[in-house]
Amino acid sequence: MSEKIKWGILSTGQISGKFAEALELLPEAEICAVASRNAGTAKKFAEKHGILKAYGSYLALADDPEVDVVYIGTPHSFHLENSVMCMRAGKSVLCEKALTINAREAEEMIRVAREENVFLMEAMVTRHVLLVKKVLGWIRDGEIGEVRMVKASFCKRADFTPSQRHLNPGLGGGSLLDLGVYGISFASMVLNKPPESVVGFGHIGSLGSDEQGAALLKYDRGEIAELSFALRTDAVNDAYVFGTEGYIKINEIFSIPTKATRYRDDKAVAVLEDTSTGNGLMQEAEEVMRCLKEGLKESPFMPLEESLQIMRIMDKIRAPWELTYSNDIQ
Ligand SMILES: NC(=O)c1ccc[n+]([C@@H]2O[C@H](COP(=O)([O-])OP(=O)(O)OC[C@H]3O[C@@H](n4cnc5c(N)ncnc54)[C@H](OP(=O)(O)O)[C@@H]3O)[C@@H](O)[C@H]2O)c1
Repeated sequence: MSEKIKWGILSTGQISGKFAEALELLPEAEICAVASRNAGTAKKFAEKHGILKAYGSYLALADDPEVDVVYIGTPHSFHLENSVMCMRAGKSVLCEKALTINAREAEEMIRVAREENVFLMEAMVTRHVLLVKKVLGWIRDGEIGEVRMVKASFCKRADFTPSQRHLNPGLGGGSLLDLGVYGISFASMVLNKPPESVVGFGHIGSLGSDEQGAALLKYDRGEIAELSFALRTDAVNDAYVFGTEGYIKINEIFSIPTKATRYRDDKAVAVLEDTSTGNGLMQEAEEVMRCLKEGLKESPFMPLEESLQIMRIMDKIRAPWELTYSNDIQ
């Protein structure tokens, strides 16, 4: 592998643009090529980000021998297909959250990564935000005692246009896969184990996807995570970790936070502020490049087994709902 890590960007949507901007700030990264379903769109994206090669097909990017790692920024329903195509062509993959539509797809994606012996990671940006790592340090150091409860809310008012991905079931839309995944992943990171029991309610809206929902996860020592998520509701988007000796509030948006406060007896005793996080996307890309340079096939910050567990939890949450994605049907 050359000194610089050569990235390919697969798709030209809003987060691909942000990820490209993050890569542009990293001297050890080079965006070698971009691909879109449309050659003109790829060319426009390439011009904006100073990328030399623009492909009008995803396959052409997968087949480019210069590319080391591909960033997948497509809607959820295409993550498996796009990632497998790149990994079968020998590329490492950073795939946006939610990793797939369901656990069966996640198992398949991970199996292919192992068969091809390539790096694979779910792009769960929260894991790479510096402030979040410091909060985890507080928890591991016992600053709030034993963790008993986790609470997180991620809600927004998304575009209600049926063709947009957010609420379009054909594109894997819905609040659980789009936003609920952050809270589930957050609880998984803090408690560092899968739950024993999972219950969830979801409201299926007129577009046929879950507009909002809530889930309760219960763990083996009685710990509880309380999570809410919505795509047509304005709400606060903060997170809390409650312990026997105090609690931590992570300010909104908890997925890419800039402030966290630790409380004891309801008094603020410590504050963390970080406005230089690069939105976590830079750190996420750096983690991928570190793993590639060290020959790791997965990251300890977002292990594949944990991404799979998170997909299993989401399968359980939505099992009682009247929501079946076409990817669910084998
Ligand atoms: N990490 C984060 O903070 C973050 C934030 C937002 C979203 N995300 C995740 O990133 C992914 C993409 O989200 P986004 O908001 O960037 O979506 P978006 O703006 O709709 O972009 C998705 C892109 O996927 C490609 N695509 C391929 N097949 C498509 C189809 N049938 N319909 C629509 N687009 C299709 C398109 O690129 P081409 O036209 O170039 O082929 C499109 O621009 C999702 O997994 C989402 O959950 C992550």
